Amino acid sequence: MFRQSIRRFATAAESASTYNIKVGKVQGRVNGFVGGMRQIRPTFVSSRFYDVLTFAAIAVGNTPLIRLNRLSDETGCEIFGKAEFMNPGGSVKDRAALYVVKDAEEKGLIKPGGTVVEGTAGNTGIGLAHVCRSKGYKCVIYMPNTQSQGKIDLLRLLGAEVFPVPAVAFENPENYNHQAKRHAEKLENAVWTNQFDNTANRRAHIETTGPELWAQAGGVLDAFTCSTGTGGTLAGITRYLKEVSDGRTECWLADPPGSVLYSYIQSGGKLSERSGSSITEGIGQGRVTDNLKQEINLITDALHIPDEETIHMVYRLLDEEGLYMGASSALNVVAAYELAKKIGPGKTVATILCDGAYRYADRLFSKKWLREKGLDTAIPAHLERYAVLP
Ligand SMILES: Cc1ncc(COP(=O)(O)O)c(C=O)c1O
Repeated sequence: MFRQSIRRFATAAESASTYNIKVGKVQGRVNGFVGGMRQIRPTFVSSRFYDVLTFAAIAVGNTPLIRLNRLSDETGCEIFGKAEFMNPGGSVKDRAALYVVKDAEEKGLIKPGGTVVEGTAGNTGIGLAHVCRSKGYKCVIYMPNTQSQGKIDLLRLLGAEVFPVPAVAFENPENYNHQAKRHAEKLENAVWTNQFDNTANRRAHIETTGPELWAQAGGVLDAFTCSTGTGGTLAGITRYLKEVSDGRTECWLADPPGSVLYSYIQSGGKLSERSGSSITEGIGQGRVTDNLKQEINLITDALHIPDEETIHMVYRLLDEEGLYMGASSALNVVAAYELAKKIGPGKTVATILCDGAYRYADRLFSKKWLREKGLDTAIPAHLERYAVLP
C-alpha cells in the first residue's frame, strides 16, 4: 500500500535516480485558485472502478500546484504554491503521518489494534488521527498548551486522546515529545512515531512531494523555499530537487522569529540560543533535527521573515488569490516572493501552502488579538475589512 501512492503517478515521465520514482503529470498545475478542476486520479483498485482508493489514508498527497497570479505578475517570475491544505487532514503533515505509521508497521513496531503516540503542535496529530482511524489504531497526542483550541478540539473530535502540556524547551524532560515517548514505552503494542527525528518523515517528501512538484513544474524549477518544523518537508523536497536537477534548483530555508535555523545557516553552522517568538504555528525550531541534519548542507541559504510580513501576506493571499491560508503558508509565500525578486524575472519559484486559516481564524482575523501582538498595523489598510472577528 505504501508504494501505491507512488504508483498513482506512474503514467509517464520523470524519474529520480537514487529513489527510482516514476511520476507523471496526472495532477497538473492550475492558474490561480480557480484556474482548473482538480484532475481525476487513476488508482489501481479494480478494473471496474476508477479513482477509488482502497482506504482513506492513501488519499494523502497528489495535491495541485497553484500559480500565484498577482505575485507572479508583479515579479515576472512564475511563483507556485503546492496546495497541501487539500490533503484529507488539511495539511502537509498528512504525508509525514502516513509515512511514520507505515514505517512502524514495516519495522514490526505496531500490530493491529495498537496505539500510535506522538508529540505534535497539531497538524501531524490531525494527520495521524485520520491515518489511525483509517487503519484501526488508537491515537494519543501530546502537545504544547500554547496551541489553538481549534486544533485541540479537532483532535479530540477525530478520536485522539489529547494531552496539552506546558510548553517547555526540548532539553526539559517535561517537553511534550519526551512525555509522548514515555507514554508509548508504558503501553503494550504502542509506538512513539517521533516525527522530529524519524526520517520516514523526510522520506515522505523525497518519494512523493518532491516528485509531484518537479513533474507539475514541468521539470523546470529554479528555486524552492519553505519553513521548517520537523524539517521533513524542506529536507525531503530539497533532497529530491537537488538530485533531479543535478544541483541546479536553489533550496532556501524560510525562518520565523524565535527560530535558530536562519542564524545557523547564515553563520555556517553555529547554533545560537533561542530568543524571540512568532505568531506562526508548527514552524520555527531550536535545533537541527535528524530529518534536517541529513540535508542541511544542500540548503542554498536562509531567509528571515518577520511576523509583520507574514500577516500582510495572509491578507493579500485572501484578497488577491482567494486563498485562505494559515500563517506558515503565508510566511512561505513571502519567502517565495523575496526569492523571486532576488533571482530575477523569468524564473520559476515554488513553495508549500501548508494548511488553511480555518484553525487559526480567531487569531489571524481578530483585530484585538493582532493588536495585542503589535501586528494590527501589518494588515494592508485597504484589506482591514477582512479582520472581522472580535
Ligand atoms: C502549519 C504547518 N506548517 C508547516 C509545518 C512544517 O513542516 P515540517 O514539520 O515538515 O517542517 C508544520 C509542521 O507541523 C505545520 O503544522
